[in-house]
Amino acid sequence: MEFLKNGRFLLPAILVFFLLQKPIAASLQSKSSLQKSAATSKKSYIVYLGAHAHGPEPSLEEYDRATDSHHEFLGSFLGSKEIARDAIIYSYNKYINGFAAVLDEEDAKGISSVWPESKSFDDEGMGPIPSRWKGECQKDKVKPVHCNRKLIGARSFYKGYVASTGASPDPSSSPRDFDGHGTHTLSTAAGRFVPGAAVLGNAYGTSKGGSPDAFVAVYKVCWSGCQDADILAAFDAAIADGVDVISMSIGGEPVDYAVDSIAIGSFHAVQNGITVVCSAGNSGNQGPGSVTNVAPWIFTVGASTIDRDFISTLTLGNKTQIQGKSRSLESLDEDKSYPLINSADARINDDYREDARQCVEGSIDAEKTKGKVVVCEFGPSSSPLSYFESIGDEAAGAILIDPGTLANYFFVDPFTKPHAVINAADGVALRSYISSTKSPVVSLSRPRTLLGRKPAPTMGFYSSLGPNTITPAIMKPDVTAPGSAILASYSEAAPPGSDPNDPTRVPFNILSGTSMSCPHVAGLVGLLKALHPHWTPAAIRSAIMSTAQTLDNTGAPIRSHHGNDATPLSYGSGHIRPNSAMDPGLVYDLTNADYLDFLCSIGYNTEDMSSFQNHTCPSRYKLLEDFNYPAIVFPYHRDLQQTATRRLKNVGSPGTYRIRYRTPAGFNVTVKPESLTFDEVGDEKEFTVYVQSTPREYIKSGWNSGWLVWSDGKHHVRSPLIINPIA
Ligand SMILES: *[C@@H]1O[C@H](CO)[C@@H](O)[C@H](O)[C@H]1NC(C)=O
Ligand SMILES: *[C@@H]1O[C@H](CO)[C@@H](O)[C@H](O)[C@H]1NC(C)=O
Ligand SMILES: *[C@@H]1O[C@H](CO)[C@@H](O)[C@H](O)[C@H]1NC(C)=O
Repeated sequence: MEFLKNGRFLLPAILVFFLLQKPIAASLQSKSSLQKSAATSKKSYIVYLGAHAHGPEPSLEEYDRATDSHHEFLGSFLGSKEIARDAIIYSYNKYINGFAAVLDEEDAKGISSVWPESKSFDDEGMGPIPSRWKGECQKDKVKPVHCNRKLIGARSFYKGYVASTGASPDPSSSPRDFDGHGTHTLSTAAGRFVPGAAVLGNAYGTSKGGSPDAFVAVYKVCWSGCQDADILAAFDAAIADGVDVISMSIGGEPVDYAVDSIAIGSFHAVQNGITVVCSAGNSGNQGPGSVTNVAPWIFTVGASTIDRDFISTLTLGNKTQIQGKSRSLESLDEDKSYPLINSADARINDDYREDARQCVEGSIDAEKTKGKVVVCEFGPSSSPLSYFESIGDEAAGAILIDPGTLANYFFVDPFTKPHAVINAADGVALRSYISSTKSPVVSLSRPRTLLGRKPAPTMGFYSSLGPNTITPAIMKPDVTAPGSAILASYSEAAPPGSDPNDPTRVPFNILSGTSMSCPHVAGLVGLLKALHPHWTPAAIRSAIMSTAQTLDNTGAPIRSHHGNDATPLSYGSGHIRPNSAMDPGLVYDLTNADYLDFLCSIGYNTEDMSSFQNHTCPSRYKLLEDFNYPAIVFPYHRDLQQTATRRLKNVGSPGTYRIRYRTPAGFNVTVKPESLTFDEVGDEKEFTVYVQSTPREYIKSGWNSGWLVWSDGKHHVRSPLIINPIA
């Protein structure tokens, strides 16, 4: 490692990325669940060499020449080109210039998503594959993927995985999805219309993705975890293959962009006109600053609920009915009554009273719950994933009382066993029925789908939160989109829930997470790209951000799962509104040069820059506060006046736009000029926001949020305005 230090970046290709919930989407795919960087292999390294000498449309010979230059480069350190050729596992020879190499004799034995037979990828009625498509459908002997005119490409990248773990890709190197996450996310982004989609009778309706007529390709990069080397190889291939949108439900801890393979790969994709949409992460429970994939060229998506619930009705022996939420795949006989028991009354002994009340594993005597419906209460010691193990295999079902701290918690993973989650007030009534009745009984209906539930959306409790810890001036996440209890295609090689031994197989499944919201946005990006082929990734993102909504279906501000008002730290600009995004009026556009200015403005020197582009910062470049992002953040506001300049581009009809804004209490904000006139499409106009704090007693500490809107009466181009005062 020492010997390559000179002026180049070296990243040990250890397992930096783990999966948000399980694996991925419309692009990068994976296998198995949460796995942190346990591997400490010092064996494979990524070396960046700045930009390629070749131009934007390289030929095959130019690719070869780039590969040869990698052999040459590494060979000069290792003694010969031949040794170097053997050591290099990936030559990033197309758009990213660099390579990944194994620098000792560890042998790499290569083996190993989508579930291609899914109806979501049926190609009936699809036109011919576009001639600009240069991708391929990988040929595997074991478990191959059969592409068609819908699923036009499938490749897997595992050399980095093999090099750093020594393991073989399991169960095969095929891009086929063996655990369901990839199929689910990809079909959400671009699945075709499938009438009658249902998970064992629930969520009945037509399933479709955001861009049902888009061609899709899969790049599988995650096995037991995702390796930087494989992620970069997939980006390099996807850019060269000619994709328009990359949907990436992968993420790790937020790290500096120069050592973040998703930031680096997506930079190159965006420079080539490809929009990269990523999950914000499922670490909301870790509080502020948990958002990941925060580079300003990435489109970062949080997750929220939709207006659909799965409701199971409890009928007590005295005919009182209570509604609970349920995603059980099995149901009880609706016409039959089952004995009810409080879990605490089934405790092993008195030492376990409190644990048994919360259904902690090992606290309940399974003999006492046989054939009964067990009432548990969620508490600090409870783990929702082990409820059904705790109450015993022969219990008929469970009723879980949610004290109000969990809200949509139970929508993360489907539970096979019959159950219902009820609120605390209903829990009190249920308990009083049990205690006042000699032989309490209950019947439990099969879960039914109810639409139009209010309030919706609300933020997913799991959705990771801003501020952006790498560059606080860039608001992240950018938007929120449906992510809780999403119905989409599933792999028929995997059980629907978390029990690996469950033999149940479903063509559709309901999952929750920012892995699910990301492909919703990717699907919308696909639609906008089809409608406006010449818009940049930044223009598409701006259109979606500036038209997003911050109110729910009751007309009140979108709430967090706790029931209080959510803020831009969780939803960014708001919840996506596809119809409005098609005609935003104005956009905050960004050029490739703006991104280079951005890197200069955060202090990157030529060496730091080399993983992005060969670039020497000029003496004058745009300041960070003037980076043309569709959200305005003053992350360290002092008493002095601060300014932010933005540039709007007309993408709609000519017109005059006027400013309206709401200022967070205690700050004096002015915008100049107060009106902007655009004569034709492409016209660009600048404005400046001035912020000055008023006497400190009026200022709330923390991330105060307001907004500003430019409107011509028809279009409303909205930006969050966030001010964090520091003493
Ligand atoms: C990148 O910059 C380095 C150092 O300035 C230079 O030696 C190298 O040739 C450049 N690479 C390309 C592809 O332009
Ligand atoms: C059933 O029992 C519960 C709890 O004691 C009580 O609140 C409810 O009013 C009863 N319902 C009927 C219909 O008597
Ligand atoms: C707010 O700013 C305007 C313009 O700079 C200034 O005239 C006004 O006095 C300021 N108000 C306060 C309360 O600081």
